[in-house]
Amino acid sequence: MKTNSIEQILQELKIVPVDYAAAKKQAKVLDDLLGYECDPIEDVLFEANHETLFSSPRQFWYGLDLQTLQTPYSEIVEMVQHLKPQPEELWLDLGAGYGRMGIVLASLCSQIKFVGYEYVQKRVDEGNRIFKKWNFFFARMKQADLAAPDFELEPADLYFLYDFGSKDDVYKIIKKLQDLALKKPIRVVARGRGVRNWILMDFPWLYDINPPEHFANWTVFRS
Ligand SMILES: C[S@@+](CC[C@H](N)C(=O)[O-])C[C@H]1O[C@@H](n2cnc3c(N)ncnc32)[C@H](O)[C@@H]1O
Repeated sequence: MKTNSIEQILQELKIVPVDYAAAKKQAKVLDDLLGYECDPIEDVLFEANHETLFSSPRQFWYGLDLQTLQTPYSEIVEMVQHLKPQPEELWLDLGAGYGRMGIVLASLCSQIKFVGYEYVQKRVDEGNRIFKKWNFFFARMKQADLAAPDFELEPADLYFLYDFGSKDDVYKIIKKLQDLALKKPIRVVARGRGVRNWILMDFPWLYDINPPEHFANWTVFRS
């Protein structure tokens, strides 16, 4: 059986896709190189949840195309190149899917700690399986409901949010971020129209001191 190497992953991560369609195509190539087996997992999740997809007030994106559910690796590479994480930093993905940000950090940066919080246990398990397979010791997925009243968000160097859940859930987690920002300035990378617009509409404390930096699909906010 052919085994893929970290050099192949790094080689692919160096390629800059020409547009979003190419970025999604490249992400599929990387998913395969890494050995993710997300399709059968998503099929099971859709089968178990399709009857309540439209009636539930919560949003876990069952049935969404995998390359739309997740941020292309190439965009995360751009974020890393822009933000230049330093060793020992802790980056959190709030609503992490299968943990792509952990893959990019572990491949490109040494000793950056990554925790991906994700509600859906099967996505958590698959993410951790891949981290273990590649010996990405600094990356970990954890199951959690970010919107639960007893979920305590930990202080981190960067928080990443990609339209992760229902508007109600997103607002709850941004309010938790606000509590943390009262103690120490925070950095948030927001991806997707929903979360970026909601921050700009209702959370001025995230941009009234430092102007936001807008990129095509994501924005860096600093409190
Ligand atoms: C759009 S995906 C983004 C995945 C990843 N951040 C990325 O950009 O590749 C959002 C993820 O957030 C998860 N999610 C939604 N609501 C959540 C909650 N309340 N707590 C934890 N995870 C949640 C969903 O299950 C989904 O996997």
